[in-house]
Amino acid sequence: QAAPDPAITEMQPWQQYLGAGVDASPYGMPSPHEAHVIRRNVPWLTADSVSSINFTPLHELDGIITPNGLCFERHHSGVAEVDPGLHRLMINGLVDTPMVFTVEDIMRFPRENRTYFLECAANTGMEWRGAQLNGCQFTHGMIHNVVYTGVPLRLLLEEAGVRTNAAWILPEGADASGMTRSIPLEKALDDCLVATHMNGERLRAEQGYPMRLVVPGWEGNMWVKWLRRIEVGDQPWHHREETSKYTDLLEDGEARRFTWVMDAKSVITNPSPQAPILHGPGPTVITGVAWSGRGSIPRVDVSLDGGQNWNQARMSGPSFDKSMHRFYYEFDWDGSPLLLQSRAMDSTGYVQPTKDQLREIRGENSIYHNNSIQTWALSEDGTAENVEVG
Ligand code: MTE
Ligand code: CO
Repeated sequence: QAAPDPAITEMQPWQQYLGAGVDASPYGMPSPHEAHVIRRNVPWLTADSVSSINFTPLHELDGIITPNGLCFERHHSGVAEVDPGLHRLMINGLVDTPMVFTVEDIMRFPRENRTYFLECAANTGMEWRGAQLNGCQFTHGMIHNVVYTGVPLRLLLEEAGVRTNAAWILPEGADASGMTRSIPLEKALDDCLVATHMNGERLRAEQGYPMRLVVPGWEGNMWVKWLRRIEVGDQPWHHREETSKYTDLLEDGEARRFTWVMDAKSVITNPSPQAPILHGPGPTVITGVAWSGRGSIPRVDVSLDGGQNWNQARMSGPSFDKSMHRFYYEFDWDGSPLLLQSRAMDSTGYVQPTKDQLREIRGENSIYHNNSIQTWALSEDGTAENVEVG
C-alpha cells in the first residue's frame, strides 16, 4: 500500500481561505507559477537592447495562438510610445487624392479578422553554419501568430485612387528609425491589412500601436509598425532594409534580392533544450509548430533517428493559410537516445529541406531565410540539445 498523498489528504491553503475578489486584477495576469514564461533576449546578439530583439517562448506554448504579451519584439529604435490622438496615416505619391486618416477614420472602413504568422527573416539565422543556440525559443522564436483585426489596405488605396502607372508602395513607420520597405502594389492590393487589433484587443505598443501593416506570408521586416505613411510609386526605393539588409549573399558573390516569402518550416517545441522530458520512458508526446508563407500545412512528419525514418504527425487545430499549425506525435519512448526532427510539407507540395540541401543552393553566407530541418539530440536522461545532422 502506497503512503497517503498529502496533496489529497491535507487541506491546502486555497481550500481554507477565501480568494481574491473580482476586482483584484482588472487586467489579468497569468498564474504566478508561470512567471518563467516570458520573452527573453540573447545579450551578445546585439550591441544594446534598443535596436534589438527578444524571442517568443515557443516551448511553453500550445495550440496556434501567441498571447500578446509573449509575442517576440524586434525594434530598430525601441518601442515608439504613440499618442493615438496625434497619430495620422498619410497616403501620398501616385494617387489622385492624397489622404490623411486618423485612427477613428480607419475604424470607419469595413474590417476583417485573419490569423497570420509573422516571422522575422533572420529567424534561425544564427544556425546557418552549425548548431548555435540551445533552445527553440532562441533558434525559432522570432515568430508569433495572432488574429488580426484590420482594414484591407486595398480599400484605403482605392479611397486615394491609385494612378495607372503605380506599381509599388513604401510604408513608413512613426518610430525614430522611420523604417521603410518597398512592397509591390500587387501584394498591397491582394491581402495586406492595416491592423488595429491583435487577439481581440488593441495592438500592444511594442507591436505597433495604434496601427501596423500586415503583409501575410512575407518576411517580418515588411510589417511596418506604428504605420504613419504609405507612398505610392512606380519603382522600388532601394532603401537600407532591402539592400544592405534582408538580401541573401550567395556563394558566388551574387546577392538574392526581394526574397519576400517565408518558405515552409517547422520545429519540435517539446521536448527541446529548454523543455526536457522529465517523466522517463513510456507514453510520450512530441509536439511542435509548422507554417508556410505560401499556404497551409497539410502534413508534418517526425523522425526519431535523425531523418532516416519518418512518421506522419497528427495535425490539430485550425488550419489557415499563412498561419501557424500545431502538430503532435505520440509514441512509447523506450528511454534510448533519439535524434528528433520535424519536416513540414505545405499546400503547394513543397517539402522543408535539410540543412545540407539548403546550403547546397544558398551557400553559407546567408543569415536570412533559413527554413531547414532542426535536430534535437535527446539523451537517456530526457535532456535535449541542439545538434546538427546534415
Ligand atoms: N516597423 C518599424 N516601424 N520599426 C521596426 O523596427 N521592425 C521590423 C518590423 N516592423 C520594425 C518594424 C522587423 S525586422 C520585424 S521582424 C517585425 O517588425 C517585428 O514585429 P514584432 O515586433 O511585432 O515582432
Ligand atoms: Co525582422
